[in-house]
Amino acid sequence: MRIDIITIFPDYFTPLELSLIGKARTSGILDVRLHDLRSWTYDRHSTVDDTPYGGGPGMVMKPEPWGEALDAVTAKPSQGGHGDETAAPAVPRLILPTPSGVPFTQAHADRLAAEPWLVFACGRYEGIDSRVAEDAAQRMPVEELSIGDYVLAGGESATLVMVETISRLLPGVLGNRESVAQDSFATGEMRHLVEGPVYTKPAVWRDHEVPPVLLSGNHGAVDRWRRDQSLRKTARNRPDLLESMPTDRLDQRDRDV
Ligand code: ADE
Repeated sequence: MRIDIITIFPDYFTPLELSLIGKARTSGILDVRLHDLRSWTYDRHSTVDDTPYGGGPGMVMKPEPWGEALDAVTAKPSQGGHGDETAAPAVPRLILPTPSGVPFTQAHADRLAAEPWLVFACGRYEGIDSRVAEDAAQRMPVEELSIGDYVLAGGESATLVMVETISRLLPGVLGNRESVAQDSFATGEMRHLVEGPVYTKPAVWRDHEVPPVLLSGNHGAVDRWRRDQSLRKTARNRPDLLESMPTDRLDQRDRDV
């Protein structure tokens, strides 16, 4: 998968050199390209913002640098070249992180992980002039996504969150593919549930014991226990998820929990 990120703070993305994502990049599973929006400014101060039409507080990102940046970054890769240029698909999907977007969920991550090419446009200040999204939508699919009901200083940290969530789903990024199916919110059994508690050795630590069923070797009993714990934790921490669960997802044992 190719991911382009356009930002006025490319340094914000050094964490993408670490850990699973760093390895996915060196192994060629993930091709992340960072672009400094200011490369598409031509004045002495590399200006990217201006005052909002209609008045009000704050500044708005100017459309011209964004228009040029998106044109350059999403330009159809030249044919007949060498190396990775030939592998890129014709049209990317543009993601605009914004607190006014659709809430980003694991279901978005699943869907976006199947895309060959994503472009993230990180806004700052009061956001990007709305004509930029309007113009881009004439050439490519555009999605406005929010990572939560709070306002960040810019789209960079939201982009980091989304890139990490999507990247770990790419084949070959996680050592153990099964762990993805058992994640909180995973498509299937875990769709409306969070994961319950987990334990590792030693069996007793500071007088706290690992629940004996986990040492029993009885896989059926372990699965049932994990589901019970998951239901309890979801009821405690995320009652909204249980509310949205279709009632046919609960069996009689679940109802007893
Ligand atoms: N930019 C600022 N706040 C944001 C949020 N909550 N989600 C996505 N992008 C943002």
